[in-house]
Amino acid sequence: MRKKVLITQPIDTAGMDLLEAEGFDIDVWPGPEPIDRTSLLARVKGCAGMISMLTDAVDAEVMDAGPLVAVAQHAVGINNIDLAAARDRDVAVAHTPGVLTDATADLAMTLLLGAARRAIEGDRLVRSGHWKGWSPTLLRGLELRGATLGIVGLGRIGGAVADRARAFGMKVVHHNRSSGIPLDELLRISDAVSLHCPLTEATHHLMDAEALAAMKPTAVLINTARGPVVDEAALVEALKSGAIAGAGLDVFEEEPTVHPGLIECENAMLLPHLGSATVDTRRRMGMMVAEDLIRGLRGDPLQHGVKAQWN
Ligand code: DGY
Repeated sequence: MRKKVLITQPIDTAGMDLLEAEGFDIDVWPGPEPIDRTSLLARVKGCAGMISMLTDAVDAEVMDAGPLVAVAQHAVGINNIDLAAARDRDVAVAHTPGVLTDATADLAMTLLLGAARRAIEGDRLVRSGHWKGWSPTLLRGLELRGATLGIVGLGRIGGAVADRARAFGMKVVHHNRSSGIPLDELLRISDAVSLHCPLTEATHHLMDAEALAAMKPTAVLINTARGPVVDEAALVEALKSGAIAGAGLDVFEEEPTVHPGLIECENAMLLPHLGSATVDTRRRMGMMVAEDLIRGLRGDPLQHGVKAQWN
């Protein structure tokens, strides 16, 4: 019998071609909105494999509903997957590390440049028709050369952002759980802070009111990691009170809902979770999840399994 596979958003055709060649019986949630919980539980029934998105809660109930043998997550972050439940059930879990590093680092730089140079405020001013002409005092921002970038989470993506920042003449410091400088020191000395840590219990609201207050009033905060790493209510306060100068955000606590206070903040640049959204990267991600789902369903070792993170 053909193995059933659920894909919770349409993926690149290169990945679909691989899955079709394997002869799977494929059910694709049409999107673009994420699959709702009721539909997910109904449609995963009878599926041995699932290609999940970061918007799906892949927990014990979903795994048992299949019952699933393999899950391939179309993202590098896997905070939406209950890895303990997967381990208990021997469900193989893969994700997409590496292939989205450059695209996500480029987007972090887009936000850094946008927030530092107040590009979105400028765009809005031009469109509003209220621009009065060139002025020595108009929308002065932060110059990157000579400024210090504090990277929280120096992994693949954090490292790629560090390389780019150095090319702009920035000094880079970092904080990791086991290396770099203490977080409070990083926040105190950085002109820009960029978040690249995974979302875990330890990093939930890592950037709370106290952490934001420790930043320079001239500094900007960039988040391309996961929304809940930042306490959005506290960030709104910090942006409105001038405790920090600006923010560039690609991720939010309750996507796609954005804190209404952030919408009001002129000094916040807000993007709809575009970190890995390039044609090439999404093609590579689509192929990677397809290849590992095929391996997982054949019982072969995964190329990009997340087992190591269980220890
Ligand atoms: C990821 O892969 O975790 C990214 O957030 C997707 O854009």
